[in-house]
Amino acid sequence: MMILREPQASDEVVLRLAHEEVLQDGMNFLLDGFSQDLDFETYLQNVVNTRNGKNLSPDRVRARFLVACVGDEIVGRISIRFSLNEWLSKFGGHIGYAVRPSFRRKGFASEILRLGLVVAKRSQLERVLITCLDENKGSIRVIEKNGGVLESKVVDQGKLLRRYWIDLS
Ligand SMILES: CC(C)(COP(=O)(O)OP(=O)(O)OC[C@H]1O[C@@H](n2cnc3c(N)ncnc32)[C@H](O)[C@@H]1OP(=O)(O)O)[C@@H](O)C(=O)NCCC(=O)NCCS
Repeated sequence: MMILREPQASDEVVLRLAHEEVLQDGMNFLLDGFSQDLDFETYLQNVVNTRNGKNLSPDRVRARFLVACVGDEIVGRISIRFSLNEWLSKFGGHIGYAVRPSFRRKGFASEILRLGLVVAKRSQLERVLITCLDENKGSIRVIEKNGGVLESKVVDQGKLLRRYWIDLS
């Protein structure tokens, strides 16, 4: 069984590793200003601040960052943004997720998004925008399995991006 939970101090080693693993896909596993030379306690405080909408830089919105655990393993993560700024409403969307390479093709991303949608609904979001690259077959499948309806395709930095909405009402 999978659960989504807040990251905690004892996750430091595995989360630093997961971040390096996912960088190879050109993505970040950890957000909220993480870099490997940042003190982990400061990073966790950033996560809490982002959740509470505190000390946000102008380009950031209130958001939750949750790790996805199966047994003792952290297999992936999800980020749920509670509003859309200009960039998010075009390209970024409400939700982003990633699965660590060694845990892929086991249905985990599909379950991460399913559980993340429950969190989004509980947080009063009525519908969510999720975007993914037109070439990202895995993510397209994950979104469509979770009820995503394709609204449009747009070009972001020379790459074709799909924009999907999922109705939570
Ligand atoms: C995209 C990603 C999240 C998929 O994670 P995952 O845990 O492997 O996905 P799932 O196992 O839930 O797979 C869902 C479906 O997509 C299919 N799929 C997954 N990866 C695929 C791939 N590379 N090519 C084709 N199909 C793929 C699976 O077969 C499955 O299909 P099914 O439901 O018909 O059996 C993962 O590859 C990842 O983290 N990539 C880097 C970050 C990223 O792209 N995040 C999404 C940003 S929009």
